[in-house]
Amino acid sequence: MREIITLKWEKGNLLLLDQTLLPNTVTYATCKTLEDVYQAIQTMIVRGAPAIGVSAGYGMVLAANAFDGTDTAAFMDFYREQGEYLKSSRPTAVNLMWAVDRMVERAEALTGEGQPLEAVRKGLEAEAVAIHEEDKQTNRNIGTNLLSLLKDGDTVLTHCNAGSLATSEYGTALSVFYMAQEKGMNIKAFADETRPRLQGANLTAFELVEHGVDVTLICDNMAAVVLSQGKINALIVGCDRVAANGDTANKIGTFSVSVLANQFHVPVYIAAPTTTIDMECPTGNEIPIEERSREEVLRINGEYIAPKEVKTYNLAFDVTPAEYITAIVTEKGIVYPPFRDNLEILMKK
Ligand code: MRU
Repeated sequence: MREIITLKWEKGNLLLLDQTLLPNTVTYATCKTLEDVYQAIQTMIVRGAPAIGVSAGYGMVLAANAFDGTDTAAFMDFYREQGEYLKSSRPTAVNLMWAVDRMVERAEALTGEGQPLEAVRKGLEAEAVAIHEEDKQTNRNIGTNLLSLLKDGDTVLTHCNAGSLATSEYGTALSVFYMAQEKGMNIKAFADETRPRLQGANLTAFELVEHGVDVTLICDNMAAVVLSQGKINALIVGCDRVAANGDTANKIGTFSVSVLANQFHVPVYIAAPTTTIDMECPTGNEIPIEERSREEVLRINGEYIAPKEVKTYNLAFDVTPAEYITAIVTEKGIVYPPFRDNLEILMKK
């Protein structure tokens, strides 16, 4: 079994497994500057909300290292500006904003204590490593909580990729398969291919096969049939931002498959690290949804599959209204409706 390591911090550089080349080529891109990290997030060399957040933490270390000077007030101006720039690389996954804010707050605390810049830089590196390590434990706790909702032999449908490739270790939605393996249980997967960028096919199928999980790949338009045939015990997906009322943004197509799961009385579980819950965002209507290039719709593997002049509409995410969600499964526990009250209680834990 090949170990999948999505991101590595090595000798002051961030190494990112280039997810635009999977499953055929396994190679790492090296980020030496904040600009490199910005480009890697925007072009989706790294993707998936938690992995974007962890990368942003290291990106902010690279920014701190690039500052030329000794004046801490000037450093903080530069640092905040760099953070705002990095946040603009992709709009939907709130982990990006969360990680940048955490790094800026740490820098404020360290400079506020009167630390020299060399000590501030060391402290910021330790903070980014802490974000990375915390994410690993979060993955495991979410997997354990998800597993408590299933029984041995169950089959789970998933959409997009919320696995090792989207996080620091086991993933969120996919951690259920890896925790099951650790506990000697057998949980099988069905993976939607997830057009337009095919994260289900290129990434989820890749990592589950690598880990020896029993996985069946289906085209997106097969979901209704497999649900109606009783093949699926639960739909488990990740998320990019959960609003305070439980409305959840995730990869485009999550809404459709959640409605279908409701139609066939299959529970819908959102695997959500608390870093993806945005209590400042009252409902799904306020979640910024990224619109990506029309080329993603027009082409598959570089080849045009439609007339170049046809109109397209390419939202990268949709919002599943809370009413279609059975439970939000976090590292701190499982949250059931009413989500507004229960998320508030959870976030205070
Ligand atoms: O556009 P992507 O590939 O970054 O979208 C990823 C998803 O929608 C994931 O489901 C989400 O980020 C959760 S990853 C644990």
